[in-house]
Amino acid sequence: MNIIEVHQLSKTFDLHILHDKQITALQHIDMTIREGEIIGLTGRSGSGKSSLMKCLYRTYLATTGEIRYASASGVIDLVKADDHAIIALRRQEMRYCSQFLSVIPRVPAVDVVAEPLLRTEKNKEEARARARTLLEMLGLPSGLWDAYPVTFSGGEQQRVNVARAIIAKPRLLLIDEPTASLDVRTKDVVIGLIRDLKQHGTSVLCISHDEYTLSTLADRRLHLQAGRITPTVTEII
Ligand SMILES: Nc1ncnc2c1ncn2[C@@H]1O[C@H](COP(=O)(O)OP(=O)(O)OP(=O)(O)O)[C@@H](O)[C@H]1O
Ligand SMILES: [Mg+2]
Repeated sequence: MNIIEVHQLSKTFDLHILHDKQITALQHIDMTIREGEIIGLTGRSGSGKSSLMKCLYRTYLATTGEIRYASASGVIDLVKADDHAIIALRRQEMRYCSQFLSVIPRVPAVDVVAEPLLRTEKNKEEARARARTLLEMLGLPSGLWDAYPVTFSGGEQQRVNVARAIIAKPRLLLIDEPTASLDVRTKDVVIGLIRDLKQHGTSVLCISHDEYTLSTLADRRLHLQAGRITPTVTEII
């Protein structure tokens, strides 16, 4: 069964400061994601990968087209759904992990990671224990677990970001460059954790420029070229 079916999606941006110049980020996108499938999304910088992911998460509202999402409680069009429905889906079953951690001030790393569970689970210490286990697996030094991620290095912030994205075992995981600034050992841990989610039934859309990550993780690849899905990769990325 498909968890996502995208039909003829397009996204244009109106740049008011440039006299209403229009940028077309995505055109005529048709794609599906099956339940439990891991899709690697590739393409040159600026080809529209993050824009497509943000349309699925509804950070960007698609200009035209349809995104049919088979939620736990029925099919919903993520383009037309009202904001309350989107907020509920984000809380319960969809997770987006951006390229960079948006740091929450004065919240320790362990709580940043545990936050998706702290909202729903009664046992807060159990949620924090799970966060610590993930941070340990990802090799974040224990001295940093209670520190604020604002001062962390790029790779340290990325570990916090990935741990936060996977802790609640979402049904749909949208993950942008999860292994970009990680060493090979940590890359393997991230790949293993995402594979574990797949076993649990999670569907994953993963943007990556990293051939090792793509070849070890993705069941299938989609390639974007200037905002369109191309059937074959004809360019060097
Ligand atoms: N909020 C926005 N406002 C205006 N233009 C945007 C916005 N977001 C993306 N774009 C434009 O859409 C196009 C696609 O950008 P996008 O960020 O999706 O590329 P990408 O494939 O993720 O690139 P990268 O690999 O560098 O992350 C670019 O031309 C970009 O400038
Ligand atoms: Mg991007």
